[in-house]
Amino acid sequence: MSDITKENALKAMSKVIDPDLNKDLVTLNMVKEINIDGNKIEVSVELTTPACPLKDKLKTDSVNALKEEFGGDIEISVNMISNVTQREHTGAEIIPGVKNTIAVASGKGGVGKSTVAVNLAVALAKDGAKVGLIDADIYGPSIPLMLGISGHPKIYQEAGTNKMTPLESYGVKLMSIGFLIDEDNPVIWRGPMASGAIKQFLTDVNWGELDYLIFDMPPGTGDIQLTLVQTIPLTGAVIVTTPQDVSLIDAKKGLKMFEKVNVPVFGIIENMSYFIAPDTGKTYNIFGSGGGEKLAKDLNATFLGGIPIDPRICEGGDQGKPIVHALPETENAKIISSIGKNLAARISITNYNYALSDVEIVFNNDN
Ligand SMILES: Nc1ncnc2c1ncn2[C@@H]1O[C@H](COP(=O)(O)OP(=O)(O)O)[C@@H](O)[C@H]1O
Ligand SMILES: [Mg+2]
Repeated sequence: MSDITKENALKAMSKVIDPDLNKDLVTLNMVKEINIDGNKIEVSVELTTPACPLKDKLKTDSVNALKEEFGGDIEISVNMISNVTQREHTGAEIIPGVKNTIAVASGKGGVGKSTVAVNLAVALAKDGAKVGLIDADIYGPSIPLMLGISGHPKIYQEAGTNKMTPLESYGVKLMSIGFLIDEDNPVIWRGPMASGAIKQFLTDVNWGELDYLIFDMPPGTGDIQLTLVQTIPLTGAVIVTTPQDVSLIDAKKGLKMFEKVNVPVFGIIENMSYFIAPDTGKTYNIFGSGGGEKLAKDLNATFLGGIPIDPRICEGGDQGKPIVHALPETENAKIISSIGKNLAARISITNYNYALSDVEIVFNNDN
């Protein structure tokens, strides 16, 4: 048994490995504080996201390492804190106070992109992250409905310019292109107009501090989408697809579009993956199976997970009560939350690799 000192505690903590980065917590500068009082020891471990999928494991491993070092007679408490990382942007300046911007995109409409964007945003907020959401889908802005928000953002003056306060629901701040549209007089958007409006959401909205600002993009890979991804300073993108071939072909185009403009793709989410009949428990692969996973493999991208078809996901959207909020204990809400955690981890890893490489982004795609 070692003496209870800070040095020995650090020695113990240097045996705890972050399996994503393959380095120990001391080397990664994640051990922030060690307090010793008699036979009590308190350690703070700082994660790069509150939605860290390894949170519980790292906590258990830390407690075990300290026990091994000091024996069973001490009182150990390990606090898991977090400070979300961001990538140093060399090009366009990201909005001040906003650490990461993520486009949720799809090759075609109707694959559940908005549903996924909303539930991911709410899940990340539930995990303790500061989250904003921009409904940039000029063809069908549906997020206000899905978040149960009606009304318009407040406009106020600051230093002679008009500013807007985002609306908020389930801990997520929202701006929607729908707030600018008169439903009875649909606008025909051109690329520069759409990107101009979205750009305003970045410059003229008081977002405050955000860990993640998520964009629900217009579906497809045409001019408007390309203009948008060139205009918005993006940390990275997520592609939503359904398992059938037609959707996968379009998802591939989406991925290529982001590659072309040097925006890293954090991964692929398959929606409507399968259906489990509530009466028999039997699984039905309505749109085929394994497509998203195979696509990710073919394109050397990360598969972030698959979300089943569930009428409660659909109802949650229609009623403005996302399933991760309304029914958090259901299996499918847990699946979506864990996809949110996987995404947060990919963002952290990308930021870390980016800092290491300085220029080149190195993806670790083996999980
Ligand atoms: N996993 C799912 N299970 C059941 N219904 C879903 C699921 N994902 C999406 N939906 C429903 O499918 C429709 C299209 O989803 P939406 O998110 O609006 O797609 P997109 O934004 O890609 O056009 C909506 O009615 C939505 O509620
Ligand atoms: Mg949509």
